[in-house]
Amino acid sequence: MIREFKREDLARVCEIEIESFPYPYPCQLFLLFYNLFPQLFLVVECGGMVVGYSVGTIERGEKGHLISIAIDRAHRGKGLGKALVKEFEARVRSLGVSRVVLEVSVKNEVALSLYKKLNYKVVSVLPSYYPNGEDAYLMLKELSQG
Ligand SMILES: CC(C)(COP(=O)(O)OP(=O)(O)OC[C@H]1O[C@@H](n2cnc3c(N)ncnc32)[C@H](O)[C@@H]1OP(=O)(O)O)[C@@H](O)C(=O)NCCC(=O)NCCS
Repeated sequence: MIREFKREDLARVCEIEIESFPYPYPCQLFLLFYNLFPQLFLVVECGGMVVGYSVGTIERGEKGHLISIAIDRAHRGKGLGKALVKEFEARVRSLGVSRVVLEVSVKNEVALSLYKKLNYKVVSVLPSYYPNGEDAYLMLKELSQG
């Protein structure tokens, strides 16, 4: 169900991105991430259709960065987001890296709930992180802590 992204998935990933975020990443940026860390760009399929993705990087060889994650509206609340984050963490770990960081809007209660359940801790507030002036939390997980 979870597999690595392929170039043919790009249009579908961008569709999900656009429906999920008020300020979506440009489609071409996904190819950049894919070229950098193909093994950290994951999609989740349901009935042969891509219904979600997560994309990330390793920074300075020392921390994983979950750049973005989104699930098609019709498929939310089924555990797919959690499964993607866990697979991302497993892949980061297999690359010898023991921590993951991410940014999340202070108003994104669903995502915050997901990350807290998975043991991510708020490290700091990033003021006006988003184009609309909204703040973000910088969150960190030490992978040794489950
Ligand atoms: C955030 C997102 C990826 C979660 O994916 P999902 O597949 O819907 O989440 P899951 O079904 O795996 O649920 C994981 C946890 O999220 C939380 N959650 C999920 N749906 C929720 C809801 N409607 N209300 C409150 N919390 C919710 C719960 O803590 C849940 O854990 P539980 O199942 O043990 O209760 C998804 O909602 C999404 O794509 N949102 C839009 C894009 C986005 O905000 N991305 C995150 C950017 S930082």
